[in-house]
Amino acid sequence: MTYAKLPRAIRISGEWTSVTAITICLINQKGGCGKSSTCFHLSGAFAQAGLRVLLLDMDPQGSLSQGFFGSTLIEQLSAERTLARLFDDGEYATNYDGLIRRTEFDGIAVCPANHHLGQFNTPLPASLGMDQYVLREFTEEQTDFDVILIDCPPNLYRCSWTAMIAADWVVIPVPPEDFGTQGLRAVHQAIQQVRELNPGLRRLGHLVTRHDRRLVVHRSYEQRLQRLYGDMVLETVIPEASAFKVALTCRKPVEFSSRRSVAASLTRTLSREILDRIARDSGHRRVA
Ligand SMILES: Nc1ncnc2c1ncn2[C@@H]1O[C@H](COP(=O)(O)OP(=O)(O)OP(=O)(O)O)[C@@H](O)[C@H]1O
Ligand SMILES: [Mg+2]
Repeated sequence: MTYAKLPRAIRISGEWTSVTAITICLINQKGGCGKSSTCFHLSGAFAQAGLRVLLLDMDPQGSLSQGFFGSTLIEQLSAERTLARLFDDGEYATNYDGLIRRTEFDGIAVCPANHHLGQFNTPLPASLGMDQYVLREFTEEQTDFDVILIDCPPNLYRCSWTAMIAADWVVIPVPPEDFGTQGLRAVHQAIQQVRELNPGLRRLGHLVTRHDRRLVVHRSYEQRLQRLYGDMVLETVIPEASAFKVALTCRKPVEFSSRRSVAASLTRTLSREILDRIARDSGHRRVA
């Protein structure tokens, strides 16, 4: 994948880092594990650090879009005002005007989704055509952003597939109660399959979400995940915290609704860890 932008230095948590444009998708076929919540709040942490963030809502449920704009506005959007237009065979497929919506927060923009995307989120047929590249073609044109975060639905159908083809990195949010490894195995198999078409796709890691450290069962799940996946588990753990929910209700990433909360601080730590891992695995060096 080629991006028009050159690496530039940005400062996060007091440290300078060199970054290039990065596209990260959040995948897990398990529902309610924090995919949309992580995209929503992470965008605030990245924006606060001076990065320009584009959020792509690839879930027909539209939770991420509703987080910023409310359910009434999002549900009323016509198909061409949502990411569904990329799958349109007609004039809209390669015309992106009006698809990117600014939010009230500097540096955060959203391409929304609603029920119109649902008709395209079908199980994968045996062979897929060129339309599996539509999101990738779109992201490659987005040179005004530093980070693109893609929220996916709770399945591995066409929307998640298309997202992985567009992405450089995958984050797999996992709640510490998902004891069947079957689900995660399917996610890893899908990543492997996509890599035949997008060899640049890499696993950033599993992100433990909704963690309650008072629960033995949560702590032992986390340890088990580390035994299974080692370094492929992000060090930052996202706790179950009401600040995340309250912020979502106020339609503000936690960075902007309660900056001093533990939830906001951990989200900044997560944003830092993500950029550090990308820098390390891409061979970029820290500027200072
Ligand atoms: N760390 C957290 N602490 C408290 N509440 C959370 C946390 N993470 C997510 N939630 C809440 O849990 C619910 C489900 O989270 P979210 O929508 O992010 O999951 P999801 O994986 O995107 O679900 P789906 O698969 O249905 O899209 C939301 O109400 C969200 O606000
Ligand atoms: Mg979601």
